[in-house]
Amino acid sequence: MNLKYLVIIIAVIIIIVVATSIVIELLYREGVEVEITTPPINMTNITIGSEIFLPYPRIKGDISLEEALSMRRSIREYKDISLTLEQLSQLLWAAQGINEVRRGFRTAPSAGATYPLEVYVVIRPNGVKGLPAGIYHYNIRRHSLTVIKLGDFRKELTEAALGQTWVYEAPINIVITAIYERTTRRYGERGIRYVHMEVGHVGQNVYLQAAALELGTVVIGAFYDGEVREIIGASKDEHPLYIMPVGVPEKLYRLNYEDLIKYYERQRSGS
Ligand SMILES: Cc1cc2nc3c(=O)[nH]c(=O)nc-3n(C[C@H](O)[C@H](O)[C@H](O)COP(=O)(O)O)c2cc1C
Repeated sequence: MNLKYLVIIIAVIIIIVVATSIVIELLYREGVEVEITTPPINMTNITIGSEIFLPYPRIKGDISLEEALSMRRSIREYKDISLTLEQLSQLLWAAQGINEVRRGFRTAPSAGATYPLEVYVVIRPNGVKGLPAGIYHYNIRRHSLTVIKLGDFRKELTEAALGQTWVYEAPINIVITAIYERTTRRYGERGIRYVHMEVGHVGQNVYLQAAALELGTVVIGAFYDGEVREIIGASKDEHPLYIMPVGVPEKLYRLNYEDLIKYYERQRSGS
């Protein structure tokens, strides 16, 4: 073939490839989402020890961070509506999901990346569409759940939380535990405060993700540690730090922006 034609053909191929990648890039900027299919979940035969792959988390949402911050409130009354597996997936990813694949770093910071926290979900009957009631452990690296116990543990968990009724009413309760040793091994006594700081980050991530999904939650620190540990089937070296009931709020909290500006103006004028 004539060299001139060969050069023209190569040039045309390069132009097509470059143009296609520019179009794809522009489409993404316009917010077109990639269709990623999650492996199918076999809901039959869920027994103790079964692993359930969660739908992959989304990294785009309809509510901005600023809006989620303005909507964050402790919500203790929920509608009798089940959560979806997608909502549960998103909440757990916000709590401790992977957001850096090379080193397996997570959505919440951790002192020295020692990652002392474990995450459990207590699901009531019909709490999550398609999942039986029970206690589940979140497998962070596989974004999956392992069944620890099957059954309705709301009564026990509510009693362990000093009778706080929102624990009973919520479709799910996320329980965060800590294995202090993972952090104190490196930082000594100071590691204890690092673990407590870290659970605060996780709590806030869940609050904001819940707000962005128009769900409601509250952090609970008042409970009997030993009882909660036993209910969720955690080991002796795990210490429950937070229980977070999550559900569809009876009433969504919305900040009125004009009220906020008036508030600041009043504060500034000293009245
Ligand atoms: C460490 C900690 C422990 C808490 N424990 C409980 C609790 O046991 N029960 C509860 O209903 N709320 C609990 N809360 C939520 C607070 O009551 C709530 O954050 C506070 O009233 C402010 O309301 P807001 O979160 O809507 O801004 C706790 C909050 C924190 C930070």
